[in-house]
Amino acid sequence: MRKKIVAANWKMNLSLEEGKSLVEAIVAGLPELNEMRQVVIAPSFVHLTQTASQLDEYDHVQVAAQNCATESSGAYTGEVSAAMLQSAGVHTVIIGHSERREYFHEADDQLLKKIHQALNNNMQVIFCCGEPLPVRDAGKENEYVAGQIEATLFQLTDDQMKHIVVAYEPIWAIGTGRTASAQQAQAMHAHIRSVLERKFGADTAQRTPILYGGSCNAQNAVELFACGDVDGGLIGGASLKADAFLTIINAMLQS
Ligand code: PGA
Repeated sequence: MRKKIVAANWKMNLSLEEGKSLVEAIVAGLPELNEMRQVVIAPSFVHLTQTASQLDEYDHVQVAAQNCATESSGAYTGEVSAAMLQSAGVHTVIIGHSERREYFHEADDQLLKKIHQALNNNMQVIFCCGEPLPVRDAGKENEYVAGQIEATLFQLTDDQMKHIVVAYEPIWAIGTGRTASAQQAQAMHAHIRSVLERKFGADTAQRTPILYGGSCNAQNAVELFACGDVDGGLIGGASLKADAFLTIINAMLQS
């Protein structure tokens, strides 16, 4: 049985007070979770200690950061190291989100350094991949996503892969209200699993959770999560409302 996860990516949203209220509302409606059915919440750096202390007693709800530094420590003004995150109670780091790749020009070699930083500090990584619209329109999405994985995850060991969750997020679906169809999501997730199998073998490929992200919401989560290779979701906009996020968590539990 593969682990399923619903992860909230708050991006650059919510004041401390708003974040506190949102977490209160989420835990108030939280269904029963377990080792294999988990929730992750990724607020901004500013929220992390507050969110971590709010979630302290919830074993299967983890706090994640949306980014970490490529370096361990030192003169890197504005950066936050993986060790600092770990000391703040963070268990997971999102790495390679398309917004980081596009707006902050994060390239594969930097992403790989960040992955190593997170893993060296005993954290789980949610590694994001996904193609822009022109690539999909040209029918080249499989090669594109395989290339993103080959340049980064292929440099890891089998053992390190135990701490990797993949999130497939087609860029044309992020924040656009245009979600991938269940068929498109399933086809890409199966492809990603076959890419992982080629390098790491069937066990690792079967064990690695692959989340879908991109306009996943309370209405479409059931259909998306029903796909055999979709193991939950990375949720942006719909994670900012407790009701919608709880509905999505319940969809994961039913799948
Ligand atoms: P969205 O964002 O759900 O608002 O499309 C998903 C993401 O970027 O992680």
